[in-house]
Amino acid sequence: MPSGFTRDTKGQLCCDGVSLSELAEAYGTPLYVYSLSVIEDNLRRFDAAFASVPHLVCYATKANSALALLRLVAELGAGADVVSGGELRAALESGIPAERVVFSGVGKTEAEIGAGVEAGILALNAESAREIEKIDACARRIGTVARVALRVNPDIDARSHPYISTGLRQNKFGVDISRAREIFTAARRLPGVRMTGVQAHIGSQIVEVEPLAQTAGELASLARQLAADGFEIETVDVGGGLGIGQWQLSPEDYAAAVIPRLSGLSARILVEPGRAIVGPAGTLLARVLYVKEERGRTFVIVDAGMNDLLRPALYQAAHPIELVGGNESPIITADVVGPVCETADCFQRDARLPRPEEGDVIAIRDAGAYGAAMASNYNFRSRPAEVLVDGGGPRVIRRRETFEDLTRLERT
Ligand code: LLP
Repeated sequence: MPSGFTRDTKGQLCCDGVSLSELAEAYGTPLYVYSLSVIEDNLRRFDAAFASVPHLVCYATKANSALALLRLVAELGAGADVVSGGELRAALESGIPAERVVFSGVGKTEAEIGAGVEAGILALNAESAREIEKIDACARRIGTVARVALRVNPDIDARSHPYISTGLRQNKFGVDISRAREIFTAARRLPGVRMTGVQAHIGSQIVEVEPLAQTAGELASLARQLAADGFEIETVDVGGGLGIGQWQLSPEDYAAAVIPRLSGLSARILVEPGRAIVGPAGTLLARVLYVKEERGRTFVIVDAGMNDLLRPALYQAAHPIELVGGNESPIITADVVGPVCETADCFQRDARLPRPEEGDVIAIRDAGAYGAAMASNYNFRSRPAEVLVDGGGPRVIRRRETFEDLTRLERT
């Protein structure tokens, strides 16, 4: 059985051998379709790439927190990087053990800190000295000692989109790396915390390995200094951020660049990939509603919109678009757009694709990460259904929302 998104002998695009046109027919559009084999393969590749050092892959659940996918992550023995009380609970209830969970985020509430401390997670990745004090107070109240890693800001340019670059000194994330030792030392007075690690995450959709390798180098030298100061550094967490698509960074190239920078450390290496695990494993299917020729331009108007997949509108992200069916029509240049009343509701400007017919299905590729996770009900639109294709065939892991789902919380 072919794995991932491939074309069959009739030129039909399939997911793990299952025809995407049939899935669109059976479950309706817009529809997210995920390949279990691709997710599994990506998780295994990360694990294998870091096999030469003690490590743990902590899947960044924000990329796609569908419970069926979290369960898969649990079954494969990976951990999770969570950023809210909701993600923490979803990860734990999906069977990811607390000792494999790290909790990131600049704005953890006391309730969220409490949930992490109570669960006894591997590390709360603290982003300020004040947060460490709050963790300490919370742990003492509960009568335990929390494991804390300090997120540092190394002032390294990830050279990604500014909205998803996080490692520059002007960004809100982490503490200046030069202050880390003093913060560790101050935390010695706090009986409710044990400082066990250091972490950095400089951004997302990063396509050059050097900034990531440099970050790992900075973390390693900090960890060595802290060890010399008498701290037992158990985890060095290099964050996530690997880009996918045309200029993707492979887990193998990433590990090959990063591991040498971490040499001589006895700590376990944590990695927090999100997009690289689920991004290429997901496609958004949409049906062509109209092909509109107007003022010298061609608009292919589809039934998915920016509420279903926000990334092109928000980050000008390029998601490859193709027709699901084999189509021999001449190639045209068109803007592939959604129905939402905003000019930003455009999946691709000047896309080159065979001229589609009304009713044709298109695949918007590499949409498994930050697609469904960032979907909204804007324009009173229901969020799409999600289907996972595994060895046993397709199954709905999240049904399409109904009008009643959307109005359930309203009071008039
Ligand atoms: N660790 C931390 C602390 C993070 O903040 C993130 C992502 C990750 C790991 C995972 O990064 P990844 O491997 O997925 O690049 N909505 C944006 C992406 C935001 C990423 C935020 N943090 C997008 O659609 O591109």
